[in-house]
Amino acid sequence: MYTSFDDTLDKIVRLLKSNQSGFLSGEELSRSLGLSRAAVWKNIKKLQLLGYKIKSKQKSGYKLITKTNLMLPWEVSDGLQTEIIGRKIYYFDTINSTQTFALKLASKPHESGSVVIAERQTHGRGRHNRKWSSPSGGIWISILLKPNFEVSHASLFPMLTSLALAIAIEKTLKIKPKLKWPNDLTLGDKKVAGILVDASIESNQIDYLVIGVGINFRIDSTAISKVLKNSGNFYGATTLVKKKEKADPILLLQAFLYELEQLYNKVVVGNLSGIKNEWEKRSSTVGKNVTILSPSGKTKGKAIGIDDDGALLVFSKGKTQRLLVGDVSYQI
Ligand code: BTN
Repeated sequence: MYTSFDDTLDKIVRLLKSNQSGFLSGEELSRSLGLSRAAVWKNIKKLQLLGYKIKSKQKSGYKLITKTNLMLPWEVSDGLQTEIIGRKIYYFDTINSTQTFALKLASKPHESGSVVIAERQTHGRGRHNRKWSSPSGGIWISILLKPNFEVSHASLFPMLTSLALAIAIEKTLKIKPKLKWPNDLTLGDKKVAGILVDASIESNQIDYLVIGVGINFRIDSTAISKVLKNSGNFYGATTLVKKKEKADPILLLQAFLYELEQLYNKVVVGNLSGIKNEWEKRSSTVGKNVTILSPSGKTKGKAIGIDDDGALLVFSKGKTQRLLVGDVSYQI
């Protein structure tokens, strides 16, 4: 695991970045870091293994040529324009599930806003405890928040998160995904990202929330489809970016965390207007004839809108029904 704090590698990268026009001597590095020359060399080797191209020249020192493609925590922090979300970042090459790790962090102090990132997950979890395929090339993250909100606000978070992600994708990749209620992002009617919110409630207050976000950034959709085709409500998976297309997942990730914090701040000050409208504008669900499978049964009708709290409004059997959870399918 690497973190965005207390990491020697982070410091070396920062020093190399601030000196990209020339070589930084081993002596200077060792002085700035309080490390022996041998330890500096060892850490440079580690960075090279992490995908950084660093030139080393006898007597001159080290020079950064190109940065890595990995979503390393100090790379995500570098240029991140948020105050709360991403204050601390935990990074894993491989983990069982970022959601499980973030849920464990919840019992520790000073972790509100922490973000957990993985290149791949061995036991990714989707909504309703479904399997979530998480090979490398995707963005698999969990965000821990401890908001001072009443329970009724918890249902806002899937809406906030999916909207923030849609806006970030529009801005960084110039693609316009659709929102499928409650919180899927789709491209060409196939799933490109999913959101899972785990909430812990105490009395009438939210104790903490863990927002899990899975983005099929650059993945082999055929392979994912094979794994998931027999799991509930699977309607096809797709990828945001093609294999050889140039696009930096870090820019999307930073933009997403920023947009999420903007929307979160709006909720903190009670300014909910606008969020629902922005969600509806991008919705593929509103206006369609739908079937919703929820714990209370099957509802068939026409989706006519979203309520302020993210509930789907369905006109069915002569009246409007409010649905807070469920899986939607469309009738053509
Ligand atoms: C869905 O079913 O649509 C939600 C999928 C959420 C997947 C993400 S990937 C990061 C985080 N860790 C997990 O195990 N699940 C969530």
